[in-house]
Amino acid sequence: MDFFDLVNKRRSVRKFSNETIPEEVVIKALKASLLAANSSNLQPWEFYWVKNKNNKNDLIKACFSQNAAKTAQELIVAVSRIDTWKRNRNLILENYKKKGNLIPVVEKYYNKLIPLSYVHDRIGLLGIMKKILSFFISIVGFFRPVPRGPIFRHDVFEIVTKTTALACQNFMMALVAQGYDSCPMEGFDQKRVKNILKLNSKSHIVMVIGVGKADPNGIYGERFRIDNDLVIKII
Ligand SMILES: Cc1cc2nc3c(=O)[nH]c(=O)nc-3n(C[C@H](O)[C@H](O)[C@H](O)COP(=O)(O)O)c2cc1C
Repeated sequence: MDFFDLVNKRRSVRKFSNETIPEEVVIKALKASLLAANSSNLQPWEFYWVKNKNNKNDLIKACFSQNAAKTAQELIVAVSRIDTWKRNRNLILENYKKKGNLIPVVEKYYNKLIPLSYVHDRIGLLGIMKKILSFFISIVGFFRPVPRGPIFRHDVFEIVTKTTALACQNFMMALVAQGYDSCPMEGFDQKRVKNILKLNSKSHIVMVIGVGKADPNGIYGERFRIDNDLVIKII
């Protein structure tokens, strides 16, 4: 399918048909999601394919039993994490070393700048220290561009969540490319979903994605977008 047809074809489906979706279709889409652009290639995402019947029922309830969850053949939960950067950073460096192309600037980036950006603590003391440091950096910022964050834990969450959302888009597009549909959902109880997946406080549920084939009445209305002029700014 032409890329632009694909973009037009993807719609949020609120009612799925009873048709099952082959396992390999979901796997292929999940693999496509992992190819998304992501900050510093740290791949801070996890995708949980909730197959267990009890977990699935609990997940539907945690999504307020909304139709897109209730009727979905499969449910995928996209999770972003602020605690996998060290493991993934080490894997990236190992891969560079294995290929023999680890240059000093890359090593410095991953060993110095990344820890400074990603390090955090629960009560925010490190954030306060980084904020003080950033005050001095912002003085330099009067004269030249300087890095101004991330500072607090929520800033790190913003980075990993942004990246994970891009992977979600890949996932949904990969389903359309294979003739299937989806609905991204943020209408869920964050705490309950985390309990179902047994996740810690360093993880964030980005979206629950309902997957299947659209019912003939599964798309609730014509697509509406506000005027381009309001959102595309050429300066
Ligand atoms: C992050 C995110 C959260 C969403 N949450 C819900 C949701 O909880 N329930 C729902 O029915 N649709 C949800 N949607 C779907 C949007 O309502 C939908 O994308 C929007 O209305 C545009 O329609 P389209 O996707 O068909 O182009 C969500 C979409 C995104 C990207």
